Amino acid sequence: MFVLNQWYVAGWDHEIDRAPFARVICGEPIVLYRKFDRSVVALRDACPHRLLPLSLGIREGDNIRCRYHGLLVDGSGHAVEMPDRSDRVHKSICTKAYPTVERHRFVWIWIGDAEKADPARVPDFWPCSHRDWTFDGGYNHLACDYKLVIDNLMDLTHETYVHQGSIGQPEILGAPIATHTEGDQVTVSRWMPGIDAPPFWRNALRRDGPVDRWQICHFLAPSSVIIDVGVAPVDAGATIQSHDQGVRGFVIDALTPESETTSHYFWGMARNFDVEDAGFTARFKKQQGAVFLEDVAILEAQQRSILANPGCKLRDFGIDTGGVRARQIINRLLAAG
Ligand code: FES
Ligand SMILES: [Fe+2]
Repeated sequence: MFVLNQWYVAGWDHEIDRAPFARVICGEPIVLYRKFDRSVVALRDACPHRLLPLSLGIREGDNIRCRYHGLLVDGSGHAVEMPDRSDRVHKSICTKAYPTVERHRFVWIWIGDAEKADPARVPDFWPCSHRDWTFDGGYNHLACDYKLVIDNLMDLTHETYVHQGSIGQPEILGAPIATHTEGDQVTVSRWMPGIDAPPFWRNALRRDGPVDRWQICHFLAPSSVIIDVGVAPVDAGATIQSHDQGVRGFVIDALTPESETTSHYFWGMARNFDVEDAGFTARFKKQQGAVFLEDVAILEAQQRSILANPGCKLRDFGIDTGGVRARQIINRLLAAG
């Protein structure tokens, strides 16, 4: 049902602290917390005794004590003290532990075979942790399959209608799209040369005049989309391959499946302009959150309609090429187990 042996975002770095934090990821109930050394523990959220969620438990040092009969479990998921303290602790009394890694402002969890966890395979969200960039964002719980969100993000033609009142721009519909697949990545690029910058980008650039604008959506397996967006003055010589001359941002979208029809959506924006301006960061996060709510309404309605019309199939048009290619990669990884 889910692509295994992958890193998924378990939470924002600030969501996970000393207190136990529960989240269902790829159908598995998981409890997360930080130890004193700040490393993140992730355990199956079920006490090895009678399966009470450990997330209801009490933190003790780097361990967690079950709130029912008091079994004490350590960060590797092993019992270290029995409810009857005179009982011997048996090695087999344990709950599953998951590898975690903290990177690019997120806590990532490895779902699959723990021995195969390789931190080098964490999706490369470099703009989120680059010192010349700034990054912030939010979280939404979505009542839809994460793949519907990926379809949505890989096809920006929806901006014209879904985001009519916010970020929609008619030029987007006219611009040619190029789709490119390489390994587990799909790239959908749109280059809009010599257009009038929309107000947001004109302000960011702090000047008037025609610009080259780009939107480059990268699908990163298993379930992230990062969108390179920005504008540069036409005389700056920006190209689709190299465009650091103007103002540039990355819309960050990390999806983590919760169930077949619900998902966790971590979103944000990394930018290389006005990086010290915390007020801008906060205002932009609010705006971006409002724009995403426009998508959420559509995606959840689409999911309800899919469930209400079991005999009907999704149809692919040309505009869906990016999403279709991303789903091909997901299906290949699913088949590979
Ligand atoms: S259910 Fe946890 S100690 Fe009994
Ligand atoms: Fe959207």
